[in-house]
Amino acid sequence: MNGVTVISHPLVQHNLTRLRDQRTQPQEFRRVLSEMAALMLYEATRSFKLRPLSVRTPMATARGSHLQREIVLVPILRAGLGMLDSILQLVPNARVGFIGLKREEATQRAIFYHKSLPPDLTEFEVVLIDPMLATGGSTVAAMDLLSELGAKHIRMVNLIAAPEGIRHVHKFYPRLPIFTAAVDKKLNHQGFILPGLGDAGDRLFGV
Ligand code: PRP
Repeated sequence: MNGVTVISHPLVQHNLTRLRDQRTQPQEFRRVLSEMAALMLYEATRSFKLRPLSVRTPMATARGSHLQREIVLVPILRAGLGMLDSILQLVPNARVGFIGLKREEATQRAIFYHKSLPPDLTEFEVVLIDPMLATGGSTVAAMDLLSELGAKHIRMVNLIAAPEGIRHVHKFYPRLPIFTAAVDKKLNHQGFILPGLGDAGDRLFGV
């Protein structure tokens, strides 16, 4: 699918299967998801822009580079929290904004219950983090908010996406790059991804 990068790295695919396995308990689920998140971020940030920078080594001047833009990580609560810590270890200078969204079970609509973000995102690289992209409603709601705050350079790190959700997101945000470990078969009538891994928030936190 256009705009979607499926990360086929063997460690990612191996760990994804452990997350899918219904026998994987929250303690292991948290650890494996966290490991995967770092691998995913590594791939997802490949196209970050660099600026040339020269430094003095103890021996001479070396031409190098540093990141052109500051980074803001934006996990969607709750499940995005499961990917945050290990990502922050890779980009410890990043700022962190939070978006709380809960899907209403009956309507499958995403409802905001928390927002805390830098007021102006224009100059930042924004990494939107949510392991599940099902109907795409949460991603579109998050993107609406990020766009209102001026964000221009956004990418999404995701674990499992449904084709219906990707289509929905790309209808409104065709230029959003989505990095995922899997594009699954379809959604069921309740809007759960098949085969998916169940409810990521519940699997992470046991509730
Ligand atoms: C789940 C999941 C995503 C969202 C995906 O969260 O973690 O955020 O649903 O669904 P969508 O693409 O159809 O919007 P949920 O709303 O269950 O909240 P939780 O993370 O607190 O469990």
